[in-house]
Amino acid sequence: MNYIIIKCGGSVLEELPLTFYQDVVNLQKSRKWKPIIVHGGGPFISSLLHKLQIETKFHDGMRITSPEVLDVVEMVLTGSVNKNIVSQLKKAGGRALGISGADGDLLNAKIMDNGNLGLVGEVHQVNTELVSQIMFTDNIPVISPIGIDERGNRLNINGDLAAAAVAKALGGKLCFVSDISGVYSEENGKKIWKRTLNKKEAEQLINKKIIKGGMVPKVRSALDTLSAGVKEVVILDGKEKSSLSNFCAGMEVGTKMVQ
Ligand SMILES: Nc1ncnc2c1ncn2[C@@H]1O[C@H](COP(=O)(O)OP(=O)(O)OP(=O)(O)O)[C@@H](O)[C@H]1O
Ligand SMILES: [Mg+2]
Repeated sequence: MNYIIIKCGGSVLEELPLTFYQDVVNLQKSRKWKPIIVHGGGPFISSLLHKLQIETKFHDGMRITSPEVLDVVEMVLTGSVNKNIVSQLKKAGGRALGISGADGDLLNAKIMDNGNLGLVGEVHQVNTELVSQIMFTDNIPVISPIGIDERGNRLNINGDLAAAAVAKALGGKLCFVSDISGVYSEENGKKIWKRTLNKKEAEQLINKKIIKGGMVPKVRSALDTLSAGVKEVVILDGKEKSSLSNFCAGMEVGTKMVQ
């Protein structure tokens, strides 16, 4: 049985059709796949921060996180987005258990970049035992990307990096579900969709600012997992019917990361 780690982007959550969740449930019921969801929630966090009049800034697609911002991040991700996905999976005929990465030492994290981004962490260990226990009860794990350090401090983890860390710890396939059908390049002002992307091309496109914003941590963490034993990594559009199940079936969808 194969693990399929599914990163559900906050960008696309409101538009994901029920058939997407049915795909996830069917993969699990087929007994060929063990799906694990890690989610983001960027737009929902930004919207609540705006309402609360708390300023938010990004650096290379990563949210700079003050203690005040972290409280909102946690409230939105663990309190709202996570439970919404659990609810959708049940509506799709499945069973899911939502958990924060700070619970049960699920995502052990360290402060990133010497604290230059504030309370932003990177995962250095995943409690795979806990993930397995959740799956053993026939529940689909739904993980919100909050980490915890060895002293018990919570840290904001970029959802893409959290998903990549879980995939590296478990192996299997990794699928970034976003609001766009993969990565594009640009030639003479025209968008060209990339079927495949390697590290060198990705860094060139980042330098030229053709890959920007949230796509920067996504492609970097996606490519990073390949050298760490993840079998296949793709970025695809969750709004496209059957995109996830087609990827699992070995069909060509979205942009595939290559070494
Ligand atoms: N070269 C590029 N190719 C494709 N998308 C790009 C590119 N450069 C920037 N993007 C942007 O990256 C966005 C996806 O990243 P974003 O972080 O916004 O979404 P997400 O990761 O799915 O959601 P969340 O961060 O909330 O989990 C796309 O909507 C697109 O606008
Ligand atoms: Mg993102």
